[in-house]
Amino acid sequence: MKNMLITGGAGFIGANFTRYILQNDPQAQIVNLDLLTYAGSLENLRDLPDESRYTFVNGDICDRELIGRLINDHAINIIVHFAAETHVDRSIFGPSTFVQTNVIGAFTLLDAARKAWLEDKVVPVEQARFHHISTDEVFGSLQPEDPPFSETTPYAPRSPYAASKASSDHLALAYHHTYGLPVTITNCSNNYGPYQFPEKLIPLMIANALERKPLPVYGDGQQIRDWLHVEDHCEAIYRVLQNGRLGETYLVGGDNQTRNLDLVQTLCAIMDEVRPGAPHTDLIRFVPDRPGHDRRYAIDASKIHAELGWAPRHNLRDGLRQTVQWYLDHPQWIEAIRDQGGYQDWIERNYAQRTEERS
Ligand code: NAD
Ligand code: TYD
Repeated sequence: MKNMLITGGAGFIGANFTRYILQNDPQAQIVNLDLLTYAGSLENLRDLPDESRYTFVNGDICDRELIGRLINDHAINIIVHFAAETHVDRSIFGPSTFVQTNVIGAFTLLDAARKAWLEDKVVPVEQARFHHISTDEVFGSLQPEDPPFSETTPYAPRSPYAASKASSDHLALAYHHTYGLPVTITNCSNNYGPYQFPEKLIPLMIANALERKPLPVYGDGQQIRDWLHVEDHCEAIYRVLQNGRLGETYLVGGDNQTRNLDLVQTLCAIMDEVRPGAPHTDLIRFVPDRPGHDRRYAIDASKIHAELGWAPRHNLRDGLRQTVQWYLDHPQWIEAIRDQGGYQDWIERNYAQRTEERS
């Protein structure tokens, strides 16, 4: 029995995961619960493989009554929780939705699962699993020489987004230790790939480069992120769902630590190949930094490798090339996002005040 409730399945990673499951697990039935905020789009779920095993529900993870009903009506025994507010810059302008969705939403789901699985015994608890998707940002910021984050790194979140995700991680583990809820957690690094909303670094740079608009690099561009291809992430989550130990956290990284400026320059080189003309690096602009900008994230993924045999398959250069090609092949997807109310407002709000520092 695999009746899966995926939350946030109309967002970037959730939509990729929905496709991954429909392609790779013929036994799974999926209910996708998504509020369709600015970050969620049914465009991300067009042409799903084997749609007969898939149901979409437009709703809020904070709606306790709805969650209880979905678990009961669909005999849900697996919850994969992606839904969240996810953009650090937005969390700086407006943290309250981050607390509501990321903390209260996670709590609502955990408590509904506890009631359904442990009290009402809607499904056999041995077959139940609550998998919580989290981020490496809960661990704070590394200096250049620091060892990478591991499962034993103390939590030290520094943005409202990271703090809200840290809270949800603590609640998930508390529900495991206190009530015996069958919980697992993955904390992953920055994802990239198809269907990512063009407010995050890589799709924003691709979308702007396609229109030969400025490419805004925050601060000195020397911040380091570890880039994980979304398909590698989906495979890691699936391995944890199948064989991960209950109450455990697994860190998932792409083994691709890169400085932001180097990443943007690599994207420019790829864009020069596919759209020849003036060098795309001419479009790079250094703009004022993000407040509290974390300097470096890095992941030691040896636990998931040793226990579950997972390792990333994509190297960054090929993954970026493939991602650029996906955006080139889907102009209507970019248009639909751009036309959506609020995207231009966000771009103006976040970037208009960031006047160029130097170029
Ligand atoms: P996203 O912003 O692309 O999508 C989030 C989805 O959640 C959207 O479809 C949105 O409509 C939905 N949602 C928001 N609030 C909701 C609510 N109250 N009820 C129901 N649905 C709601 O996010 P993503 O990049 O796909 O991230 C998915 C998860 O992975 C998040 O939990 C995020 O913290 C985590 N994560 C993401 C990254 C990354 O690089 N993207 C890295 C580490 C961890
Ligand atoms: P982002 O994609 O927002 O992910 P996160 O903040 O969760 O790591 O940003 C990735 C990095 O790119 C981060 O160091 C901030 C930087 N950045 C820019 O330099 N310019 C931009 O326009 C954006 C959106 C991000």
